[in-house]
Amino acid sequence: MQELAFAEKNLTKRGFLDIDVDPTLDLVAEIEKLKKEKNAIILAHYYQESEIQDIADYIGDSLGLSQQAANTDADIIVFAGVHFMAETAKMLSPSKKVLLPDLKAGCSLADSCPPHIFRKFKEKYPDHVVVSYINCTAELKTLTDICCTSTNAVQIIESIPKDKGIIFAPDRNLGAYLKKKTGRDLVLWNGTCMVHEIFSHEKITKLQMRFPDAKFIAHPECEAHILDMADYVGSTSGLLKYSLETDAKDFIVATEPGIIHQMEKASPEKNFHPAPPANTCACNECPHMKRNTMEKLYLCMKYEQPEIILPEWIIKEGVASIDRMLEVSAKAGL
Ligand code: 13P
Ligand code: SF4
Repeated sequence: MQELAFAEKNLTKRGFLDIDVDPTLDLVAEIEKLKKEKNAIILAHYYQESEIQDIADYIGDSLGLSQQAANTDADIIVFAGVHFMAETAKMLSPSKKVLLPDLKAGCSLADSCPPHIFRKFKEKYPDHVVVSYINCTAELKTLTDICCTSTNAVQIIESIPKDKGIIFAPDRNLGAYLKKKTGRDLVLWNGTCMVHEIFSHEKITKLQMRFPDAKFIAHPECEAHILDMADYVGSTSGLLKYSLETDAKDFIVATEPGIIHQMEKASPEKNFHPAPPANTCACNECPHMKRNTMEKLYLCMKYEQPEIILPEWIIKEGVASIDRMLEVSAKAGL
């Protein structure tokens, strides 16, 4: 009890449970035990570290994770991902306890679109439909007509009558890609993903010279000049599927490198090269996704903290935009 009170006090400041974990503990076994004891399910995004992916009950992209969160009969959803993903799970399953190992696992896209500023922006286009990439805050979803992910974005845009104007937030790169793909004239919010906006055209070209037969595959959050170089553009699950089904030996992958763990598992005979960023850092990891660790996952399951708590009005007003997205996706067979 005393330990829990200490945990609560520490959590407020740090966003995670800062309690020492015995380094000799078998975390995999402990987490498996906690899953059974508490009827908990671990949902993990492809950008999580490999160990977390390997212990998850479901690994997927943002659409798959939302579908799982909406349909699970577990009592506790442990979200190994970032804050907006755990919020989405809470909105879809409000009666369940949703845990996030580190509350500070945020997202630069979600941060780029503060709801009070977006509200004013939206007022300038009163007849427009608002489509928001799911990478946004729960409050932004209350100002959104329909959400999308990178897997269903084309179908969501195409589900909107042609005579309707559309605001697309918050990712300007995905928005520009959708304009090109659908021929629709979208009003774009000026947000970007800090991971996908820093790939280097020059360094990728050099890598292509080293592996001339490699397929270059990219996530649509990348900038247009990177997408223009790509043999295939798609969501994380799309990239994984393409790498499995395409007959090439080498792939240059322009997205967060966490996905490469699944690519290597699915196609052990192929080589996957992370696309290099323009900065001096050699890797392109998402610092938010990588805030989650096995230790934090274990502690959060043990103490059932940190928990995602959302005001009722946000759940009520925001969930409609996610429900609409899931309906259109189901009709499109996604
Ligand atoms: P998807 O996995 O849905 O493609 O999204 C990528 C991403 O950046 C999630 O934060
Ligand atoms: Fe957000 Fe980009 Fe990290 Fe995804 S990879 S959580 S979009 S910052």
